[in-house]
Amino acid sequence: MPDTITITDDRTGKTVTVPIEGGVFPSSALRELDPSLFMYDPAYMSTAACKSEITYLDGANGVLRYRGYPIEQLAEKSTYLEVAYLLVNGELPTADQLATWNHEITHHTFIHENMRKRFVDGFHYDAHPMGMFVSSLAALGTFYEGAKDVHDADARHRQIVRLIGKAPTLAAMAYRFSVGLPFNYPDNDLSYPANFLNMMWKIGPRYEVDPRLERAMDILFILHADHEQNCGTTAMRVVGSSQADPYSSAAAAASALYGPLHGGANEAVVRMLSEIGSIENVPAFVESVKNGEGRLMGFGHRVYKNFDPRATIIKQAAYDVFEVTGKNPLLDIALALEDAALSDPYFVDRKLYPNVDFYSGLIYQALGFPVDMFTVLFAIPRTVGWLAHWQELLNDPEQKISRPRQWYAGVDERNYVAIDAR
Ligand code: ACO
Repeated sequence: MPDTITITDDRTGKTVTVPIEGGVFPSSALRELDPSLFMYDPAYMSTAACKSEITYLDGANGVLRYRGYPIEQLAEKSTYLEVAYLLVNGELPTADQLATWNHEITHHTFIHENMRKRFVDGFHYDAHPMGMFVSSLAALGTFYEGAKDVHDADARHRQIVRLIGKAPTLAAMAYRFSVGLPFNYPDNDLSYPANFLNMMWKIGPRYEVDPRLERAMDILFILHADHEQNCGTTAMRVVGSSQADPYSSAAAAASALYGPLHGGANEAVVRMLSEIGSIENVPAFVESVKNGEGRLMGFGHRVYKNFDPRATIIKQAAYDVFEVTGKNPLLDIALALEDAALSDPYFVDRKLYPNVDFYSGLIYQALGFPVDMFTVLFAIPRTVGWLAHWQELLNDPEQKISRPRQWYAGVDERNYVAIDAR
């Protein structure tokens, strides 16, 4: 069987044959046929917009790998900062490289005092922490002169380290502001996840981070670090392709993540489970979803059509956390809902399975995070995924400014009508 595809334009009889590589053929075939011919592909269902070496995802078989390493192995054996190095640099670090990287990130956790005192203090008292996080990312870029030097590899490295280091600081700052608590400065003696938990929860001089919760936080960070061309990462690439600075691009990516169909789903899951209220109400809720009255949040995925491997790991991590914190009362409703959906032809036929967000919200809640913080918790580790893709984009000679075409479906030319004649 030849690894080629032949496209014939029946209007002209012109034929073009191009190679299929890795399941993809170049759209230059269409341009060759007729430069004014475009493919209509809303939501990019059939479009590969880039070549990427970062994350491999096989939705049919539930496979997720970062730089070739299975997510299950990384979640079991690695740390978030090591995974961050891997995503950004392509290889696992040596001991020396990891020590340098950890030192660099750890010593870029502080933010300029004006970020907090002048910028964050201007928010309304009940501002959503994700709205604060999104705008803080963009604001942060204004503090660094080199932020715009996107073609300078050293400057790029500095912004990458800063953004990874400061994301937890911005997140904790948004939370502390929203509950009226004083800001905790980063503690550079702590690990990345422990420092974040410390900034979140420390009141008074001492806060001991439970190592089991520190590890659970790190696993959640690893699982959320990248997920190839999702909505947020695509936003990062689109904005980054205009050569905007990485802080503005990351703010765009975080805005995309904020939506309830993307990273906002974990928040929606907990709200949904709370509304269901008890196991007895599960069948009626499932029926209402089947009747088109809303969606089963935390179910379904554009790419995974078998299972989401992250959901499997998170479900296990949830039990580990509940051993420390006590069981989340919503867990039984979640399990009953999962059982009901997985045995119902509506969900089975449409290949709808729990995604990463179905159980992550339950862990976050057990860890004490308010629902409003859930998407922020997703954004902290995803920052490294956005940056790895941003760097790849800037180094890719085949990339240009993103600029899709449209299928114009409006009215033809017509003459302006004066207002009294309309
Ligand atoms: N509950 C009920 N029905 C669903 C759900 C759901 N969660 N998801 C999809 N469907 C149905 C659709 O109604 C549609 O049915 P139809 O063929 O009868 O019209 C069919 O399944 C296909 O759905 P699409 O919307 O075409 O699937 P798509 O790939 O566009 O959407 C998405 C994927 C957005 C994740 C969707 O499954 C959804 O809305 N899920 C709930 C929100 C959610 O959990 N998002 C988190 C995703 S993971 C992440 O971003 C980190």
